[in-house]
Amino acid sequence: MPTHYKDLGLVNTKEMLSRALKEDYAVPGFNFNNMEQLQAIIMACTDTESPVILQVSKGAREYANQTLLKYMAHGAVQYAKELTNGSGIPITLHLDHGDSFDLCKSCIDTGFSSVMIDGSHLPYDDNVELTKKVVAYAHEHDVSVEGELGVLSGIEDDVSAEKSVYTQPEEVVDFTKKTGVDSLAISIGTSHGANKFTPKQCKRNEEGILVPPPLRFDILEAIEKELPDFPIVLHGSSSVPQNLVKIINENGGDLKDAVGIPEEQLKKAAESAVCKINIDSDGRLAMTATIRKVFNEHPEEFDPRKYLGPAREALRELYVHKVKYVLGSENKA
Ligand code: G3H
Ligand code: 13P
Ligand code: ZN
Repeated sequence: MPTHYKDLGLVNTKEMLSRALKEDYAVPGFNFNNMEQLQAIIMACTDTESPVILQVSKGAREYANQTLLKYMAHGAVQYAKELTNGSGIPITLHLDHGDSFDLCKSCIDTGFSSVMIDGSHLPYDDNVELTKKVVAYAHEHDVSVEGELGVLSGIEDDVSAEKSVYTQPEEVVDFTKKTGVDSLAISIGTSHGANKFTPKQCKRNEEGILVPPPLRFDILEAIEKELPDFPIVLHGSSSVPQNLVKIINENGGDLKDAVGIPEEQLKKAAESAVCKINIDSDGRLAMTATIRKVFNEHPEEFDPRKYLGPAREALRELYVHKVKYVLGSENKA
């Protein structure tokens, strides 16, 4: 028996993103794989009264188990109500970087309220065909669809690329018209993971910290001109906080030349047509930094709550910061 997302108390992204577009902020697309990450996201977004898109990659779905995931999402909706005296916040369960029609269909049939079909690495016409097919099935079920044009470098499951290819503004109208997607992910210089740029692509400031090249706001503006009032999505938007990288490296880690997107640039993007911003790596860094520190300082500890608990708290603080100071989605629930 298929499960429809409305029975889980979830919403699709349509209203969320159109409000974000009108009011110049971005809805967080936070990735999760386990209970502590999910708890931290819900705590932070209820605290700040922000809508939230819970993102699950193909790998995360395999890791968490698709049956458990459905109940976790339903649990998240109930938990959010508990934390807000019954009013709750808008919550979407979204497939991140779907790589096939079958995967998108399976997610739609098991309670997802939104899917991304990432055909960005395919030839243009194949991307259109695949995306169109997913949209047809998704819209029959009132599920929203995110497509992608342009290629981000980095690796996520089976969708990977070594070099980024910026989105071509002249393709966006044709793509959105032909496919019927509800939102469009673009490539303007962000990329996935904790090493978004090579040291060669960056400058070093006086403290020796790598300063990355700026995002291509000129391409974003050209896209907005071609496609006015259309929800744009930015992937690869972690900022790779250097204090977290330092804690990891001081506690036995080995992250070299890790560099992300400066928060001021994401803030600027959130005030434009970009109305969904994806963040995964910063959460991974916050968890890893906290757990490494606890293990280093308390080698006698073996109760998972003693290291996952502080990691969850660090994550909660990180997400509150993103909502309030980067995305601007506070009080928009
Ligand atoms: O953009 C992709 C996300 O960071 C998910 O990564 O495929 O390792 O779960 P993952
Ligand atoms: P980061 O690796 O920059 O967090 O990007 C996450 C992302 O785009 C998920 O789709
Ligand atoms: Zn992504």
